[in-house]
Amino acid sequence: MTILVTGGAGFIGSNFVLDWLAESAEPVVNLDKLTYAGNLQNLASIADDSRHRFVQGDIGDYEQVSQLLQQHQIRAVVNFAAESHVDRSIHGPEDFIQTNIVGSFRLLEAVRHYWNALPSDAKAEFRFLHVSTDEVYGSLEQTDPPFAETNQYQPNSPYSASKAASDHLVRAYHHTYGLPVLTTNCSNNYGPYHFPEKLIPLCIQNALAGKPLPIYGDGQQIRDWLYVKDHCSAIRRVLAAGKIGEVYNVGGWNEKANLDVVHTLCAILDQLKPRADGLPYASQISYVTDRPGHDRRYAIDAGKLERELGWKPAETFESGIRKTVQWYLDHQDWVGNVLSGDYQSWMAKNYSGRI
Ligand code: NAD
Ligand code: TYD
Repeated sequence: MTILVTGGAGFIGSNFVLDWLAESAEPVVNLDKLTYAGNLQNLASIADDSRHRFVQGDIGDYEQVSQLLQQHQIRAVVNFAAESHVDRSIHGPEDFIQTNIVGSFRLLEAVRHYWNALPSDAKAEFRFLHVSTDEVYGSLEQTDPPFAETNQYQPNSPYSASKAASDHLVRAYHHTYGLPVLTTNCSNNYGPYHFPEKLIPLCIQNALAGKPLPIYGDGQQIRDWLYVKDHCSAIRRVLAAGKIGEVYNVGGWNEKANLDVVHTLCAILDQLKPRADGLPYASQISYVTDRPGHDRRYAIDAGKLERELGWKPAETFESGIRKTVQWYLDHQDWVGNVLSGDYQSWMAKNYSGRI
């Protein structure tokens, strides 16, 4: 038995592959295009593990995906591969349409044809798990209840619209062709190997470099934060026991305003690595022009996953964020390698007009 993970060199996918091999004997084929967000250094600790087979390629390459499915007799696909950064989707939506919509469609086609030809027992056991986001549900008002699986889709950014489209395709492949799919919609993740274009790793890195900590708008936008390894355990649980065709929301009941998150990061850094001049890191906070169409609040009701599959997160926000800051302090070599020329040009593009 072997599973195919797509996007397994990115932030969540690489955490998933590392956890999978730590928890199970089952081999993983890892298909990743290695865009700017993919990084083989995330997988350095399993470089000699014969259960991990890395393949560079595109989920939109029907021939390559079909060949991998056949060659390794794949029994489940976990689809992480995506363009994932909202700000990049605003500056250039094309890649999001290509990978998140067209790529997911071609992946589904390859999987459907492979699955159709399987013997009946393997066909019954097969699963396609699609990893999606809470952002497909749009933005909540302050007093709204958290997103349930039954909420209407109201995506507001090119990123969330492209993820919503892929979720709809996955749903349609179950209803039309009977493909045994599962979908997870998770809230914002944080933890090791998070690319430092996203709020938490960006602010840790900028703080240490003595640079401004850019807060979009008033900083009162709310996100619901989940430690990445808890997301991985939820996906493993849904893959093992989820009901075919169902959607599971994943979250840690940790709603925080962005400004509070950044103040928490600063306070932890003040303890673990105080600034040489004795000033608090919070003195680097800098308000910048807001993101266009910025969603005000996301919050996940993870009750279905807890009730039906018995999943619970292991970390609180306080324990997870402390581990995360410590991880970045301990892995400055990893960050240094990520901060390449491409990263610098992205920073200039996104922030130069703002600060
Ligand atoms: P990421 O950007 O860190 O990683 C994406 C990975 O996909 C990279 O390794 C990249 O090389 C690969 N990739 C991109 N296009 C590809 C293609 N066409 N073919 C093959 N590989 C390709 O993203 P992430 O934060 O790890 O997110 C993973 C998944 O989880 C995404 O589907 C995202 O929508 C979803 N998600 C993310 C979060 C979050 O907070 N980061 C929350 C909920 C859901
Ligand atoms: P981000 O990490 O990009 O995740 P998402 O947009 O998918 O939620 O952003 C998290 C929040 O932080 C979001 O409300 C935007 C905000 N933000 C800033 O205030 N400053 C920044 O420099 C970045 C990257 C994000």
